[in-house]
Amino acid sequence: MNGPQLTAQSTPPATVFLAGPDMTIQVLRQMYPAFQDTARYQVLSMAIEWEDIKRQVAQYRPEALVIDADVAPGPEVLRDFLGQLVGTIVLVVLSPAWVKFKGMFEGIQTNVRGVYLAPVNWAAIANATYSAVATERARTLDLAPATSVHRQAAPSGPGSTLVVGTRTIAFTSFAGGTGKSTIAEALAVELAREHIKTLLCSFNSPPAAAGHLGLKVTPNATEWLNRPTVEGFLGSLQHVRGFDDLDVLLAPNDPHILALGNDRDMKDDGSIQNLVLAAYSFNYGAILLDLPPFADTMWAMQALLAANAAVLVCRPTLHDQYAAIRAYQLLTEELGVQARLPPEAIFAVLNFTTPDDSLSAKDFQAAIIEFTGRFPPLLAAFPFIAKLPAVQNRLDLPAIAPECDEFGRAVRSLKGKLVGGALGHNSRKPTSDAGLLGKVLGITFRVQK
Ligand SMILES: Nc1ncnc2c1ncn2[C@@H]1O[C@H](COP(=O)(O)OP(=O)(O)O)[C@@H](O)[C@H]1O
Ligand SMILES: [Mg+2]
Repeated sequence: MNGPQLTAQSTPPATVFLAGPDMTIQVLRQMYPAFQDTARYQVLSMAIEWEDIKRQVAQYRPEALVIDADVAPGPEVLRDFLGQLVGTIVLVVLSPAWVKFKGMFEGIQTNVRGVYLAPVNWAAIANATYSAVATERARTLDLAPATSVHRQAAPSGPGSTLVVGTRTIAFTSFAGGTGKSTIAEALAVELAREHIKTLLCSFNSPPAAAGHLGLKVTPNATEWLNRPTVEGFLGSLQHVRGFDDLDVLLAPNDPHILALGNDRDMKDDGSIQNLVLAAYSFNYGAILLDLPPFADTMWAMQALLAANAAVLVCRPTLHDQYAAIRAYQLLTEELGVQARLPPEAIFAVLNFTTPDDSLSAKDFQAAIIEFTGRFPPLLAAFPFIAKLPAVQNRLDLPAIAPECDEFGRAVRSLKGKLVGGALGHNSRKPTSDAGLLGKVLGITFRVQK
């Protein structure tokens, strides 16, 4: 590879291939100038001949192909070509004459991440390309370092368990008020800031994200419970202003509808578990589940059964130690085969830590190991920040507010460990130990419904 050596910390630029029917006017003067930021894009090549495009995309294996559909001999030929690409996502621009094929291209969900009608704003397409690549890296590439490291230590040996699907991370505890919502929301904001398309499910009622992110209480999961379809799912989402890559799904605000969801059998199409699984079809880089204290409600239990990673949020207290033991036993023993959660995908964080704590992180963990034989690794310690509730009250974000600097640092550290492999390096050319480790262990993520 040309250019400076990448470090583990830097995010490599998105590798892009540009294709359109006309080189001088279109590709070189319109498309290419939008991809000039070399920190974000590495334009591998450009082509205007259909045969060149087919051959060179296979040869260069770009992370993204940005293509003006007019360059293809016909819509079906283009569809078939795009459908068989492996490891390359696609953004397609259609001329007005091809409007009627928009749905057909959008249907290629394995690869196509955007279908746009000309004339387009190429700067916006370039941004969308970057987001789509960042999201795809989070979704499909190397395991997060925490998973790899822990996996090495697991008695069952490397590669014994397959972590399946988009990273779907449940934030959970038996105790209330430990910081599940605050931490899940902060992580969601951080991921969206990295252009990773993220879904935050706020499953308390009333949902915490409404109060913290300045959302209305509707629309919410009621739409899905009434209509468990693609439209019902999309109709239940809200969007956070200023964060294009963050969708939020709130629990119903109405207690009767909340109970209706709670009473629904898991196998029902419109169950809470199927709501979370439905999100798998929408190419999120990460799905974060902010859950009520569990065992109380199906809004926690069924969601947990759709997760493939869990984070126990604990305060450094004796009570939370007991709660963590119960939670760990429930996850590893009682949920058993029903859960998609191997022990290696269960983690813990401490919140509300202060220098005055009588229980250090090490003591906290040691006491639990004594009880259960093992305990999920502590991935981060979030300091107690007296001003944090005030930051939330003014609808500001603890992940970025200057008063919560140290909290934000812990969020970024957690992000690096949980979704880290996706951002720090590119799996095709591993540049760090963590990347290599993921490769050596040969663990793959794949979407499975
Ligand atoms: N690190 C922290 N420092 C100070 N206050 C915090 C911290 N984490 C959470 N809080 C506050 O504690 C309360 C409970 O947090 P929350 O995230 O709602 O917990 P949970 O979702 O587990 O019930 C909220 O008022 C929140 O502002
Ligand atoms: Mg909460």
